Amino acid sequence: MLPSLLFASALVASTRAAPAYPKFDAASSAPDDIRALSDYFNLLASKVHDSRILDVAPVCDLSQVPQPAGAADLPSPSAGLSLRHIAIGRGTQNYTCDGATPDAAPQAAGAVAMLFNASCLVATSADLAAALTRAALRFDVAQSRAAGERLVPSDLPLSGLHFFADATTALFKLDVSPAVQLGELPCGKNASVPAPPADAAASRGLQGEPPVPWLKLTAKPGATGGLQEVFRFQTVGGSPPATCRGMPEEFQVDYAAQ
Ligand SMILES: *[C@@H]1O[C@H](CO)[C@@H](O)[C@H](O)[C@H]1NC(C)=O
Ligand SMILES: *[C@@H]1O[C@H](CO)[C@@H](O)[C@H](O)[C@H]1NC(C)=O
Ligand SMILES: *[C@@H]1O[C@H](CO)[C@@H](O)[C@H](O)[C@H]1NC(C)=O
Repeated sequence: MLPSLLFASALVASTRAAPAYPKFDAASSAPDDIRALSDYFNLLASKVHDSRILDVAPVCDLSQVPQPAGAADLPSPSAGLSLRHIAIGRGTQNYTCDGATPDAAPQAAGAVAMLFNASCLVATSADLAAALTRAALRFDVAQSRAAGERLVPSDLPLSGLHFFADATTALFKLDVSPAVQLGELPCGKNASVPAPPADAAASRGLQGEPPVPWLKLTAKPGATGGLQEVFRFQTVGGSPPATCRGMPEEFQVDYAAQ
């Protein structure tokens, strides 16, 4: 497996302007980590070989991008809206526990994530984007900062930030990078469905936990740039343990999503 990883990163290095690849410690990684990463690099290598998509200016026609299979269980985008941006998010889901009730389920307490511009990647190669979303979970968010705010192990640039403005308001800031100035969107949950079974099986988290649900979020007052709705798809990891037993009062679970 390792030789093909190295082969793929050599290929990437030759087709892109020297992205910085941080070290991935294969010796201390779980089999799932290696699988997610080698899936991504093998797919990348085959795309480069087949079509050299990375050498040509990509076609980024977001109007032709279908929603992923499995999204059918969520309400559709509202009539009259058009897709503006697709990001891969990498961060943590936060939870709280009350030590007095160890059998209770952890409570959701917001999330924080860096958003990386995957608009062109999803438009040209949704399967590669899905594999990258899974591979990206295997790298620390801090490594993406160290790599100049590009999503490790790719070179997708930062396009936004996601955090919570208050307990029930998820904020998406798509105005933090000069290349993407789309506005910002405070929003609340409109609908939630479990990740489809086939995706869920391939998208377990760093502790083997299932992926967080797929969501539709809708704007609250204060949105700018005409932004109105957000969908969270292709989730990887991020779910809490079933109970608070053995957990601290506050903890984070790493996740990735589109
Ligand atoms: C970033 O996203 C915008 C759409 O929001 C798109 O026009 C642009 O091509 C994207 N860049 C990349 C590298 O995906
Ligand atoms: C979630 O945890 C992160 C990492 O510890 C922290 O920076 C962030 O402020 C937390 N967000 C919320 C809403 O608690
Ligand atoms: C979800 O959005 C639809 C359409 O805007 C609305 O009719 C419905 O009441 C919303 N549901 C929730 C739970 O917010």
